[in-house]
Amino acid sequence: MPLIRLDKFLSNAGIGSRSEVREYIKQRRIWIDGVVCIKADTKIDKEKNIITFDKRVVSYEEYIYLILNKPKGVISATEDEKEKTVIDLLSDEYKKYKLFPVGRLDKDTVGLLILTNDGKFAHNTLSPKKHIEKSYFAHINGKVDDKYIEKFKEGIILKDGYKCLPAKLSIDYSSDNFSKVNITIKEGKYHQIKRMFETFGKKVVYLKRTSFDKIILDETLEEGSYRLANEEEMKIIKKFI
Ligand code: URA
Repeated sequence: MPLIRLDKFLSNAGIGSRSEVREYIKQRRIWIDGVVCIKADTKIDKEKNIITFDKRVVSYEEYIYLILNKPKGVISATEDEKEKTVIDLLSDEYKKYKLFPVGRLDKDTVGLLILTNDGKFAHNTLSPKKHIEKSYFAHINGKVDDKYIEKFKEGIILKDGYKCLPAKLSIDYSSDNFSKVNITIKEGKYHQIKRMFETFGKKVVYLKRTSFDKIILDETLEEGSYRLANEEEMKIIKKFI
């Protein structure tokens, strides 16, 4: 494991800015393996050394995975001059990790979005060859009947001629002018669900992502809230890293 400067380690671990942590070091509040350390440039091994701050062990994860329930009105980007991004929702504690969203949800789409700084995880889940299943719950401004189920299974041909991979559709509710449906797709083309319904002249008026592979949206997370992936979710994430 490469060695890292103590002040860098502490600031990466969210203890404070580089200058703040140097102050803590001077104040003799940082210990390495039970011995106080007063030199900010001391090299440490994150795997072997035990670092404490005010007697509490400092843990540092290089890669982190946040589960966000994306709200409406924020874009799936890391920065933007005009729009609020999913990264703007995070506290400073997480901003320092340089997280990015794994894939994109439209500005008006809500639901499950994973944020990470692990490029390998993003690559391995977003690669079109992987065919990761993503499920959505949608409101449609019209009648969606059983005939659609077969059409989704066969592969919808979008207006630009692209033939979608077979998708699953189930109907929760349907009346002449409104339906509630669940869709599972194995790819992530731009506006895909909206464009799939557009081929039938229908509009998606509400869209929520409910799962990503085996990770299911935690409905106890309010829109706009996030948390670290839990143990179960980490088991799923680890399959891709
Ligand atoms: N399909 C869409 O149309 N929009 C999304 O945000 C995700 C899937």
